Amino acid sequence: MCGIVGYVGKERCTDILVDALRKLEYRGYDSAGIAVFESDRIKTVKAKGKIDEGLAKKLPQVTFSATCGIGHTRWATHGEPSDVNSHPIGNGRVSIVHNGIIENYRELKAFLTSKGYGFESETDTETVAKLLDYYYEGNPIEAIEKALEDIEGAYALGIIFREHKNKIFAVRKDSPLIVGKGEKASYIASDVTAILEHTKDYYLLERGEIAILDESGVRFTDIHGEEIEKELQTATWDVTSAQKGGYEHFMLKEIHEQPEAVRNTVSPRVKAGLPDFGECGLTPEKIRGYKNIFIVGCGSAMHSGMVGQYLIEALARTPVIVDIASEFRYRDPLVSEGDLVVIISQSGETADTLEALKLSRKKGADTLAVVNVVGSSIAREANMVIYTNAGPEISVCSTKAYAVQVAFMYLFAFAVAFANGKIDEAECKRLTAGLLEVPEKIQACLNDVSQYQYVASHIFNADSLLYIGRGLDNALSMEGSLKLKEISYIHSEAYAAGELKHGTISLIDDGMPVIVAATQSALFEKTLSNVREVKSRGAKVAVICCKTADIDETIADYKVELPEAEDMFLPMLSVVAMQLIAYYTAVQRGCDVDKPRNLAKSVTVE
Ligand code: G6P
Repeated sequence: MCGIVGYVGKERCTDILVDALRKLEYRGYDSAGIAVFESDRIKTVKAKGKIDEGLAKKLPQVTFSATCGIGHTRWATHGEPSDVNSHPIGNGRVSIVHNGIIENYRELKAFLTSKGYGFESETDTETVAKLLDYYYEGNPIEAIEKALEDIEGAYALGIIFREHKNKIFAVRKDSPLIVGKGEKASYIASDVTAILEHTKDYYLLERGEIAILDESGVRFTDIHGEEIEKELQTATWDVTSAQKGGYEHFMLKEIHEQPEAVRNTVSPRVKAGLPDFGECGLTPEKIRGYKNIFIVGCGSAMHSGMVGQYLIEALARTPVIVDIASEFRYRDPLVSEGDLVVIISQSGETADTLEALKLSRKKGADTLAVVNVVGSSIAREANMVIYTNAGPEISVCSTKAYAVQVAFMYLFAFAVAFANGKIDEAECKRLTAGLLEVPEKIQACLNDVSQYQYVASHIFNADSLLYIGRGLDNALSMEGSLKLKEISYIHSEAYAAGELKHGTISLIDDGMPVIVAATQSALFEKTLSNVREVKSRGAKVAVICCKTADIDETIADYKVELPEAEDMFLPMLSVVAMQLIAYYTAVQRGCDVDKPRNLAKSVTVE
């Protein structure tokens, strides 16, 4: 969380920095700011709130001709969102932008106070700015080296020193940072999408490396100032994929990109009609050798793991343990050599997920990262990587990234079942062919959105609602409920339909909406009895099911119809319905769909 940017080149940098920050707002939007070299000074403008509400309003009052500066968009951790806690932070001699958490900031603050430094903000970041100032005696690299020796925690830092005009220094540990190389300019950014408009060429900054950017270009040193060579990378994402393309919100655009995203994730991993993960060395022999499979992630990524658990256990008859990364890493999990830990993450930077991965490796397990962002920390730490090819996901609320994680889970479940001899080649080919048809069916769900708008128009005034389902539908409902609550702020819970009667059913009263996923024929009648239980207690029920399912108005108030598909694949369609119901509900409530309050897309703190 938090996004950082920097620019040095020949053009006026203010607009370039602010535009780049806008692309990183998904990482946090509690405040934003820039610091630039103006004459012989560092000039800083920063403000609480989203860029357009704060920083962008303040900037026209100041005229800049600067051609070098740093910028920041914040997700508050230490200190409330406020002007004074906004970045850049500095004292006129040194100014910094920071993404991460300085764990020992209290000790550093005590030390610096004893040296006569005062503190204005409540941030951990201010200790780094002051520490750099304390060690600075004319040589920035020496100051950085000494300061970093004292700092514990995670960071990506962009640093400018007043005495080194039009130069940016950048360094990182655990938080991501890339260095862009344009024809006549250089950039730093937390994520490549921020600079795609200017260049696709970038370097991945590694731990302990320092980037030095000036008008002549970029060079790199190790922490002691020894020059190092780095390999230039080229982004495969293009600039249009990081823009709204005519949609009102990124979320809506990304929902509509799901057919293509699923196709891009699945098709390259199908060879001769069978799943093939040879690209990362995950062969059938290897799969056969694993004792246990763990799936670990946070948020929607963890929800996709729950789908994986149902599928793998049902098809491959192999036990699967799914865990939330922040729980897994602190409960001394029973992972050991011979196990496979599948680590799922859109960003590849989630702090808890990254630590869960490191722990699994330490315990001797094989690790497979299922990640969307190429070259991200999780991708680089794991033994094997599968990239989910969804393209950049900008909306904080995950949609297409979740869909492709789920698509991977299907293909992986087929591969495990086939490798373990639980399904034969013909069945594996039949299932794989079914998965390849899912993008078309998702497209059919998107062609007419009126039924989702209709449900949204009936629930947008609710204070609270429930999602219920059984089996795969239960796993999917957890994601549907998360989507609704995170963007519409309506309280919502997902519950296993059969478990309702053990307490939660007491919440049902007249008019309370209940959204039911009922796509699995084997459980259909059981789910309908739960529907009757809630309806007879006054609930307003919407049932999401295949269009051929026998549901009339005596059972449900609304029927949301999905295209015909094999039972197994229907949950991949019902989630599209749930995403759109959440989207239209949030729009009707006037919520900021792409930037819901208190959230950030990439959570690089624990
Ligand atoms: C944040 C996002 C969620 C996401 C979770 C895990 O909380 O708001 O949408 O599911 O992080 O992110 P990851 O990048 O690891 O998939």
